[in-house]
Amino acid sequence: MARSWGFWTRYKLELLQRYLDAFTTTTKKLSTKRVYLDLFGGEPENVDRDTLLPIDGSARIALNTDNPPFTHLRFFELEPNATKLRQALSREFPGRDWLVYSGDSNDTIHQALADLRAADAGWAPTFAFIDPNGPHYTWNTLQVLAAHKGPKAKTKVELWMLFPDPLFARLLPRTGEVRPADNAAITAMFGDPLWHSIWKAKLDDVIEPADARDEYVNLMRWRLEQVLGYRWTHQLEIRNTRDLPIYHLIFATDSKAGHDIMSYLYDQAAAEFPAMAREARTLRDRLKREAQGQFDLFSTVDPPLGRVLGASPDRSERQRLYIHEPPDEPRAHDVSTCPYCN
Ligand SMILES: C[S@@+](CC[C@H](N)C(=O)[O-])C[C@H]1O[C@@H](n2cnc3c(N)ncnc32)[C@H](O)[C@@H]1O
Repeated sequence: MARSWGFWTRYKLELLQRYLDAFTTTTKKLSTKRVYLDLFGGEPENVDRDTLLPIDGSARIALNTDNPPFTHLRFFELEPNATKLRQALSREFPGRDWLVYSGDSNDTIHQALADLRAADAGWAPTFAFIDPNGPHYTWNTLQVLAAHKGPKAKTKVELWMLFPDPLFARLLPRTGEVRPADNAAITAMFGDPLWHSIWKAKLDDVIEPADARDEYVNLMRWRLEQVLGYRWTHQLEIRNTRDLPIYHLIFATDSKAGHDIMSYLYDQAAAEFPAMAREARTLRDRLKREAQGQFDLFSTVDPPLGRVLGASPDRSERQRLYIHEPPDEPRAHDVSTCPYCN
């Protein structure tokens, strides 16, 4: 059965497609090889939750990027999805240099990167899409990706990652007791227990929930820049049809072109996303009414979600909505009564 996704996933994939097009175009002058890594490769069949129309997942989007194409594509998935993905891609993309690594990508990434270095593609421009459903990637994985091209490389592997900050509120109850597995997963993702001080400040009502989310994102960006040495990081908040935050998309790069392109795309997103959310809400309400037998006399037939994309105002005609700001040094909170902070 196909996996169904909200409109925000479609939009995330739309941004991925735009960025990959730009990535291969801008890096073609630098190299004959271009590498795409997809640490949470997904399933082959996906549909839009509202329209039930099929949508291409990240694997197809990357394989269909064509001007120029990626030369090496490496996907990572758990079983049984890995086998399903491998079978579908074998039918659709024979003859291309792609592989699906089965298992936890935090483990298999080591072999995959070693294989790329052995194939003389370790130095090539490389983009990693990190798209989990929860706190499923580790800091160690980010570290390994950042180190992959070696200390002499001008640019590290670019990272575009989903950061599930609102999930923390669900995993971290107000009682102050954290399940050991959740505690370990979040600490492994940050690579540092410092995040507990943000959580503790929220529990003590020193900061609001929204401030805590901002501080988690800021901490991750700060560490990407200060510990892994990325020159620029960006953040974009993604919200659902009820306007509730569901995750951030964090981008890390050393490339001026990457920084400029993602600034442009996040600015487009800031203009397009609210309209797309409105359109998705309208469609959902209409489908609900129709399911109850109420039909709108003058409603149009199936407004395609995402119609707004082409119609969004040109950036020259409007104010910029996204301006890149570097992360701040993380705020110091009182950790004297925090059992997990060190
Ligand atoms: C949000 S989906 C990815 C969607 C995909 N990027 C796409 O566009 O179709 C997350 C996927 O990660 C897989 N997954 C979860 N934990 C994983 C892990 N540790 N290693 C590899 N894959 C994992 C899940 O099976 C799921 O298919």
